[in-house]
Amino acid sequence: MRIDPYADAPRLPERDTVDPRLLVGAGSEPIELEIGPGRGWFLIERFEAEPNARMIGLEIRRKWAILVDRRLAARGFGERARVFAEDARGALPRFPAACVSIAYLHFPDPWWKKRHQKRLVLTPELARELGRVIVAGGELFVQTDVVERALAYEQVVGLEPAFEPWPGGPRLEENPYGARSPRERRAIEDRLPVVRMRWRRRSTAETPPP
Ligand SMILES: C[S@@+](CC[C@H](N)C(=O)[O-])C[C@H]1O[C@@H](n2cnc3c(N)ncnc32)[C@H](O)[C@@H]1O
Repeated sequence: MRIDPYADAPRLPERDTVDPRLLVGAGSEPIELEIGPGRGWFLIERFEAEPNARMIGLEIRRKWAILVDRRLAARGFGERARVFAEDARGALPRFPAACVSIAYLHFPDPWWKKRHQKRLVLTPELARELGRVIVAGGELFVQTDVVERALAYEQVVGLEPAFEPWPGGPRLEENPYGARSPRERRAIEDRLPVVRMRWRRRSTAETPPP
């Protein structure tokens, strides 16, 4: 019999609706969300920079979800931060509205061939869900080293009425969160250009009709 080494990967509760705030002891306060944390160092460094943060990671690869969730627990952050082995595209629609303060997507979608389109994470559907789960005044931060991807993200998020570019435009020079993702570190070491973008979630009153 073949044993599944990742059978005990942490999963979200099997319910139609899941409040991620309750999984990290945040009560009714919005939490930070990372989609695709990979090896997870951004979450750890973010905690070190912002010890009061409460965070959830959604990572489709069960191996990384297990490893990073255990790493957070081993550092004593387990009550405040968890990583779940989930496809963000299926998980976000189960979250209540306005439960996230900042959503991070660091270097999602590293592929650019046409046959990889169906794997894309930051699609118009996900942008709509992010607009629903991020609180008014909250933030969406996306960075990539694929220039074509950056242009596509600007279009996708730009078309989502819930978001407006951060004052001064969506692009920013530096990552303002006091923490770097593994791929970000490698891109910097390899001197690859990194495009960083940030949007603000409009309030309902500010959101133009679709
Ligand atoms: C290129 S890696 C970047 C990893 C990390 N964010 C970094 O910057 O080092 C993209 C990550 O997104 C994860 N991923 C891809 N599609 C996903 C999805 N639909 N839901 C959650 N995670 C996903 C991958 O497994 C991988 O860990």
